[in-house]
Amino acid sequence: MKLLTIVGARPQFIKAAVVSRAIASYNQTASNRIEEIIIHTGQHYDSNMSDIFFEEMDIPKPHYNLGVGSGNHGEQTSRMLIELEKLLIKEKPDMVLVYGDTNSTLAGALAASKLHIPIAHVEAGLRSFNRDMPEEINRIFTDHVSDILFCPTDTAVENLKNEGIPNKNIKSKVIKTGDVMLDAAVYYSKISTDKWLKENNLNAGNYILATVHRAENTDSAERLSNIIDALAKLSDNYYQVVFPMHPRTKNIIASDEKIKNKLKNSSIKVVQPIGYIDMITAEKNCRLIMTDSGGMQKEAFFHKKLCITLRTETEWVELVNSGWNGLTSLDSDKIIDSVEQMLKVDSSKLAYPDLFGDGRAGEQIVLKLADFINYTRC
Ligand code: UD1
Ligand code: UDP
Repeated sequence: MKLLTIVGARPQFIKAAVVSRAIASYNQTASNRIEEIIIHTGQHYDSNMSDIFFEEMDIPKPHYNLGVGSGNHGEQTSRMLIELEKLLIKEKPDMVLVYGDTNSTLAGALAASKLHIPIAHVEAGLRSFNRDMPEEINRIFTDHVSDILFCPTDTAVENLKNEGIPNKNIKSKVIKTGDVMLDAAVYYSKISTDKWLKENNLNAGNYILATVHRAENTDSAERLSNIIDALAKLSDNYYQVVFPMHPRTKNIIASDEKIKNKLKNSSIKVVQPIGYIDMITAEKNCRLIMTDSGGMQKEAFFHKKLCITLRTETEWVELVNSGWNGLTSLDSDKIIDSVEQMLKVDSSKLAYPDLFGDGRAGEQIVLKLADFINYTRC
């Protein structure tokens, strides 16, 4: 059976690493092997946003790289769509596998649905209920055209149910598998070392790890300025802030003299985006995580770290409900206040609920994919 995987952005490489490894393991004993064809759309292309993940996470080299690069949403997505359609016609897969909520996810789902190729969506059912987010549109569309929806959490299953998925007229399957990002955290933690700490002259427990890249935070100069302001004050007064900077954020700051100077005059340590193995070290050893990343909110929890999410809502509501994550409005005093409150929490006293499965979501996904493809072929 032929499975065509479509990835393009950093978090998708991390998720796909888990499933590709599970496919390789399944193929060792299965009579009906899964032939995985990987397409990289080229949405992320800097070596520290793409190559590093394929290399250090041992992800099979993509069979195709569409090289679409950056652009406005319509421009970027349509370039992907044109090239994906050609490849789907050529490769004739039994199923297309997409991950998460990026423009690469949307283009993959759209191209496959028009060609009547079954679609599997990993990380289905997530909702922020904020349709101003490009990711929310991508998720809703993808879920509504997918045939098999792999949900990481109960909340995700419930969100789909509220949108009428599944229903008696559309033969889609919703399956709760747990989160492949937990699988990744468990597996790659075993090979992480303290190299990154030493290279950066950092001591465990003595820095705040921050990342910012969401469009709603970076595209507004006021919001970005508020965030940098808060990070600068926290860095000067509490713990040094270490900030692996996404290229989107870097480019925007580079063209804004005021924010650039604020950053330059602070003690924030800005570093290039780091690889996933170093990121595990950075997360495991920090005092607190501040982020607007979906993946890092969960990784904070996986590594038992408290997190302030630089957003007013999150898709991962169970993290907030369990006290491990706090939301904040994007005013610099409010951000600082949220962090001060979180620093008072004794995380060793917080309950640690079972929210994301048992670290074997990848295996479950592969078994269900194999079942689904065999079943639809009969
Ligand atoms: C995308 C996803 C977002 C996800 C994030 C993960 C969409 C709509 N957004 O956002 O959901 O959380 O990836 O990181 O798909 N750039 C580079 N080099 C690169 C990649 C990007 O310089 O390798 C710069 C370019 O200036 C580009 C900007 O970053 O215009 C934004 O990149 P893009 O892929 O459009 O969106 P992300 O912000 O990365
Ligand atoms: N990540 C990384 N290096 C970085 C920043 C993030 O390896 O410099 C990893 C992070 O650990 C997580 C994933 O990238 O596994 C999250 O991706 P990102 O924040 O870009 O996107 P999101 O999850 O918000 O869609």
